[in-house]
Amino acid sequence: MAEPDPGLRQVAAPDPRAVPEQERAELEELAVALALEAGVLIRDERPSRLAVNHVKSTDLDVVTVMDTRSEQLLRARIAAARPEDAVLGEEEGLSPGTSGLSWVLDPIDGTVNYLYDLPAYAVSVAVVVGDPTVPGAWAPVAGAVINPRTDELFHARVDGGAHLLTVEDSVPLRVSAVEDLAGALLATGFAYDREVRHGQAQVVADLLPRVRDIRRMGAAALDLCHVAAGRVDGYWEQGVHVWDIAAGMLVVTEAGGVISGAAAGSPPSGRMTVATGPALHPVLLGALAGSALG
Ligand code: IPD
Repeated sequence: MAEPDPGLRQVAAPDPRAVPEQERAELEELAVALALEAGVLIRDERPSRLAVNHVKSTDLDVVTVMDTRSEQLLRARIAAARPEDAVLGEEEGLSPGTSGLSWVLDPIDGTVNYLYDLPAYAVSVAVVVGDPTVPGAWAPVAGAVINPRTDELFHARVDGGAHLLTVEDSVPLRVSAVEDLAGALLATGFAYDREVRHGQAQVVADLLPRVRDIRRMGAAALDLCHVAAGRVDGYWEQGVHVWDIAAGMLVVTEAGGVISGAAAGSPPSGRMTVATGPALHPVLLGALAGSALG
């Protein structure tokens, strides 16, 4: 059996089924409403001359005025509806709560796409049990991811299935059944740290000749939802944050997929996140372990 991710503290994942089904359904409904409202905000109120407001971890990690506004809107709605829950947001960090539930927010996932007005950005809203600041110490209960430019809203709750809601329809999601690397269309993403990108480029160079093709679409939450919808066969990335993956992770698993870190059964984290259908998962883990990463 593969070793767990080195460096990850071993923690017991909390059980999201401890939240009663009725409450899970209410949380999913709220996550959907929050994603929808913030999605409409960032789409309809995007300034035509949008500029970078400030940068964070590196010069490439940009924040716009709409990232801030979207998170403020989400926080205000959560404070009104669920004042006892904690909130962890990409822009404002952690506000503690007392209920044992935490909302994990990416107010704009795909901020660089948003900056350039490329229509592949999202709002990601998840509610989790446990400590979302520690990999493996949390588990999603419900979540929603909206791409407001395609009017697609992906959502899930534990044991409730994963669904894609559009203006016309609501359809259940199912991951692809692809088993082999040669026939796999994979998505990945790149870090904001230029040094880390050297290693990521090596992994792409190793895998590209062995797969159907590789996509870099620019929003991790949407990449996960595309795995859930079978629009790509798999996704891997180093360097994601909990707000990038908390909602999409549940959409993947409720669509029958598997998500982990570098080793089977390890939690997804910034060290590595790998999501696929069940047949491809060990194959992609093996290929990544044997690549420049391994
Ligand atoms: C980023 C996007 C991107 C991924 C980065 C993320 P942000 O999120 O999801 O696709 O490659 O790792 O940080 O900064 O746009 O919210």
